[in-house]
Amino acid sequence: MLSDMAGHEHEDFRRVRSPFQGERIRLRPIEQDDLLRINELFWDPEVSQHLSLAWPEPLAGTRAWWEGTQRNPDTMAFAIEAGGGELVGVCSLEDADGRNRGAVLGIWIGRPFWDQGFGTDAVRTLCRFGFVEMNLQRVTLWVYETNPRGRRAYQKVGFKEEGRRRRANFVGGRHVDAIAMGLLAEDLVEL
Ligand SMILES: CC(C)(COP(=O)(O)OP(=O)(O)OC[C@H]1O[C@@H](n2cnc3c(N)ncnc32)[C@H](O)[C@@H]1OP(=O)(O)O)[C@@H](O)C(=O)NCCC(=O)NCCS
Repeated sequence: MLSDMAGHEHEDFRRVRSPFQGERIRLRPIEQDDLLRINELFWDPEVSQHLSLAWPEPLAGTRAWWEGTQRNPDTMAFAIEAGGGELVGVCSLEDADGRNRGAVLGIWIGRPFWDQGFGTDAVRTLCRFGFVEMNLQRVTLWVYETNPRGRRAYQKVGFKEEGRRRRANFVGGRHVDAIAMGLLAEDLVEL
């Protein structure tokens, strides 16, 4: 009897999936040794044009951001690591709010790694982490109208458009609309 129970416990244990593990990526803490690579991948105009930080900053700026995330209890930031152990991007849940049980999602993937499913998998894994580990009940994000790749990735995970801030951001010489998207815990699309 005892050995039966022990066997079942072992099986159950193996079925439990780490909240940080996706299909193609895993989320892990950002280490100081990652900062140079993060700075290189992030300050690519093709990446940063979709984000609110428009101009390159030195490594010291990336370090200051990383240190700030560690001091801020309302922010969880992760390195996104592909199967082979390569850092492909960064994602975060910010402004975590205990009363409303919501947070704001941010993500970028380095250009050499686009369109391989990493972004979708990272967003799904990060939202699962938010719902299962942080007790969130919704996740919000903002995406520019000029970012169809991002909008597609978010839709695949279950995000729905909830509104639009017209001409909210100045990108590449013109103003673009910022689209609000939201995901409720029960709408997360698992594979
Ligand atoms: C947005 C981003 C995170 C998506 O990550 P990714 O790994 O490239 O995305 P995925 O490969 O998981 O999915 C991209 C989807 O968009 C589709 N796509 C690519 N280009 C597209 C386009 N021009 N129009 C419509 N869909 C497009 C892909 O085909 C794929 O969909 P599919 O799986 O149905 O074929 C990443 O491209 C990125 O970091 N971009 C720059 C920074 C950024 O935009 N951050 C988010 C700000 S809100």
